[in-house]
Order: sequence, then structure tokens, then C-alpha cells
Amino acid sequence: MNFENNLVIIESPSKQYLSVITKGQEFITNEGKIEFDNIDKLPIKILSSTGIEFTIYTPSYKDFVLLMKRGPQIIYPKDAGSIIVSANINSHSRVLEIGTGSGALTLFIATLLGPNSEFYSLDVSKKNQYRAGKTISRYLSNYSEEFIKKINFVNEDLSTFLMKNISINFNSIITDVPEPWHFFDNNQIEDNLYWVSYLPSISQISKTKDTLEQNNFQHIEIKEVLEREWTVKGNISRPKHTMVGHTGFIISGRFII
Ligand SMILES: C[S@@+](CC[C@H](N)C(=O)[O-])C[C@H]1O[C@@H](n2cnc3c(N)ncnc32)[C@H](O)[C@@H]1O
Repeated sequence: MNFENNLVIIESPSKQYLSVITKGQEFITNEGKIEFDNIDKLPIKILSSTGIEFTIYTPSYKDFVLLMKRGPQIIYPKDAGSIIVSANINSHSRVLEIGTGSGALTLFIATLLGPNSEFYSLDVSKKNQYRAGKTISRYLSNYSEEFIKKINFVNEDLSTFLMKNISINFNSIITDVPEPWHFFDNNQIEDNLYWVSYLPSISQISKTKDTLEQNNFQHIEIKEVLEREWTVKGNISRPKHTMVGHTGFIISGRFII
């Protein structure tokens, strides 16, 4: 079977499941069973044992992170896009991420970076980094080797971390830890760099802003991303009744000179 080990979404009219195609096995849901051996192409529509039509397809990044197993709270896709723009990430970037967590943002960055980039991700928790590494390889296993950017995991507390021990001139630092200002206890920025911190509370934002200013950062911006979906059906056009509203604040700044 060509699709053995492929990561897929198995979608019924009412629910989405994340699974891996496994030869000789079946996927059991409340709406009937699907035989993996019947999947001879992707995407495909298949009837379950109870006659319900399922669609099976490769997950997008957003599908995956919303369905994947998580440890710590992830950065939502709506915030990830804005963070990437604020951090000015491109395929050549040299990126330091502080707070690997469940690896949701780590994965997004890894899919954007090319062969000439550098990517380090720091977390004090070995357990979180291990889980994140597994999650990331699960998603990336659907893609070719060249697509997979190597992630260098650093297992250390931010308050003792010395950036000079990694001889890389980073151009973007992104944090998702409660006290990002501790970075500046032992480190100094001297070259062009974009800083982005994702934080749940405005008091953390305020302290981060003060620290960035004390360290000569400019172009400081504070924002939250509110994404509102609309229903457009026949004569009815209105915002959806439910939305993911406030998740966190994003503060960004740039060290120029
Ligand atoms: C909310 S999670 C990050 C989630 C991640 N951005 C994602 O999208 O999946 C925060 C992570 O920061 C780590 N952390 C908290 N304080 C830290 C510190 N002082 N130094 C290093 N890592 C820290 C925690 O172990 C946790 O894994």
C-alpha cells in the first residue's frame, strides 16, 4: 500500500479525526468502521461500514495543530501568522524560539525555514520538548527530507541561558514563556534583531515593554488578533455566533542599532 504511515484526517459529516494509515487495520468511529486497506489514493471518499460517507485527506498545518495531542497551551494559528510577520521570518532567517511547549509554533516555523536558515528552540522542560519533537516529526513525516528543517532543541532555563554559547547571530527571537524579560539578565542584543513575545496578560506585556525599551528596542507594537468568521448563505450574511476571541497579546520590537 502506497499510503502506509501517512498522516491523514478522517472526516465524517459531523467530526474530524487525526490518524495514521496502517496496513491491515481499521479505524473505528461511532459512525462506522473504515478499512485502511481500501485507501488507494489521497484524498478519497469512502463509505464506512454503516454507509456514512467519510472524506480522507492530508491535514493542513491548521487542521493538525487543532487536533494534535498537546501538553502546554499552544499558540493558535490566528496568532502564529501575525507572530511570523512581526518577527520578519523568511526562508533564510536565524531564529531562536524560547518556550517550545507543545511545539505548535515550532512546527510552523520549521515549515517556513529553508536550508540556509538556523533554528534553535529552548525550553526548561525536557518532557515538553520530547513530546513536541515527536509531534513535529509526525506531521513532517508526510513531506520529503529536503522540506524538513533541522530543529536544535536546547533544554535550559531562560534565566541561565547564554546566547553567546550558540555562535549564531540570530535575527529573530520569539518567546512564549511567562517571564521573557529574564533573557536580558545575561544577554545583550547588539545587532539587527526582531523580538516577538506572546503573553496572556497585560501586566506581562507592560514589563516586557519596559525591558525592551531599556535594551534600546524601537518600533514597539502591542496588539491582539481577533479573527471573526462570517456565514454567507443565500440572503444571509452575518458573523458566526462563536469565535476564538482573546487568546493572548503580542508585543514586538526591533533592535536596529
Ligand atoms: C505555553 S508553552 C509554549 C507553547 C508553544 N508556543 C506552542 O505553540 O506549542 C510555554 C513553555 O515555556 C516553558 N518555560 C516556562 N518558563 C521557562 C523558562 N524560564 N525557561 C525556559 N522555558 C520555560 C514551559 O516549560 C513550556 O513548555
